[in-house]
Amino acid sequence: MDREVCKMNGDPFQEKSINLTHIESRPSRVTKDEYEFFINLDSRNIPLLTDIVKTLRNEIGANVHELSRKKKKDAVPWFPRTIQELDRFANQILSYGAELDADHPGFKDPVYRARRKEFADIAYNYRHGQPIPKVTYTEEEKKTWGTVFRELKTLYPTHACYEHNHVFPLLEKYCGYQEDNIPQLEDVSRFLQTCTGFRLRPVAGLLSSRDFLAGLAFRVFHSTQYIRHGSRPMYTPEPDVCHELLGHVPLFADISFAQFSQEIGLASLGAPDEYIEKLATVYWFTVEFGLCKEGDALKAYGAGLLSSFGELQYCLSDKPEIQSLNLEKTAVQKYPVTEFQPLYYVAESFKNAKEKVRRFASTIPRPFSVRYNPYTQRIEVLDNAKQLKNLAESISSEMGTLCSALKKIE
Ligand SMILES: [Fe+2]
Repeated sequence: MDREVCKMNGDPFQEKSINLTHIESRPSRVTKDEYEFFINLDSRNIPLLTDIVKTLRNEIGANVHELSRKKKKDAVPWFPRTIQELDRFANQILSYGAELDADHPGFKDPVYRARRKEFADIAYNYRHGQPIPKVTYTEEEKKTWGTVFRELKTLYPTHACYEHNHVFPLLEKYCGYQEDNIPQLEDVSRFLQTCTGFRLRPVAGLLSSRDFLAGLAFRVFHSTQYIRHGSRPMYTPEPDVCHELLGHVPLFADISFAQFSQEIGLASLGAPDEYIEKLATVYWFTVEFGLCKEGDALKAYGAGLLSSFGELQYCLSDKPEIQSLNLEKTAVQKYPVTEFQPLYYVAESFKNAKEKVRRFASTIPRPFSVRYNPYTQRIEVLDNAKQLKNLAESISSEMGTLCSALKKIE
């Protein structure tokens, strides 16, 4: 704090007899010529923290982010600020991808289990920035993929939304989406980056909702790489590469859908647990099982539907109940995880759904707003005048570009 404290009349920590138990500094990644400090306080000094934060913000215009004060009411849960910090999630999975439940079709198959371990190890060792290791899929794995691919493709023209059908031929052309070939995550990730900036990273097993949603804030989708057991090609009790590549990937290539997905992720950062559950439920009824309007017709855009031959037909039949997407209601709706959904929510459009998430996010009790800076691949916490000024300048510059471009096409 030396350089900054010099600007003040005295050291605010010393003045209040506050013990610093740990201090780290590094060059600021936000503002040139400034520094960032990570400071731990002795817990006995916590009651004085509010005053100190106020002093630092007001007197030297410091950006102060309070990570935790072990006081449940005010604590903001940790969230990643940089895309590299998503690496931390690799070791935080809730279930290990190689350990299967007793009712899993591959439970008694030692070859399948060994294979699952290979995939889990790829994800464990993966770090941001590396290419996703390519996998040589076996003939049996390719056969399983082929069955799923062939069957689902017959339904897409009539059941999938416009965006899915629009992107699918490009995936066939550029990413190896063929009946006899399982696409490589790396190729797909590169393709998505050119479309919307979304990227894939391999995941070993099930992440917590908090971690999984945080990835979306950075336009990162955690994707499995293994395939379901060959004995039941039309069934999987968990996400697999068929679900990710056929269900999720086409939609992440759409600009509006990508924005909508990122909005859910941004809303989740630092949100209290009960709101994470609500956002995960919204994710379930949209990104996984959402329907959308296309003229007078309904179409599927949820990945859980687009990767299930049975449920894709069922969701557009007259059997399930259909309601309009209404986040207050949708966010607390109970749902089954092992059978077809009895209720689906319909989005007017992805843009409309994004606005709804944004409004919902404003009801989340957290003392700051966030935005993603794609140039630095960092989350900016907008909780002080300086950050807001930077944002205003950046918007002003964009507005200048927009006005100039508008004039040129007049
Ligand atoms: Fe999924």
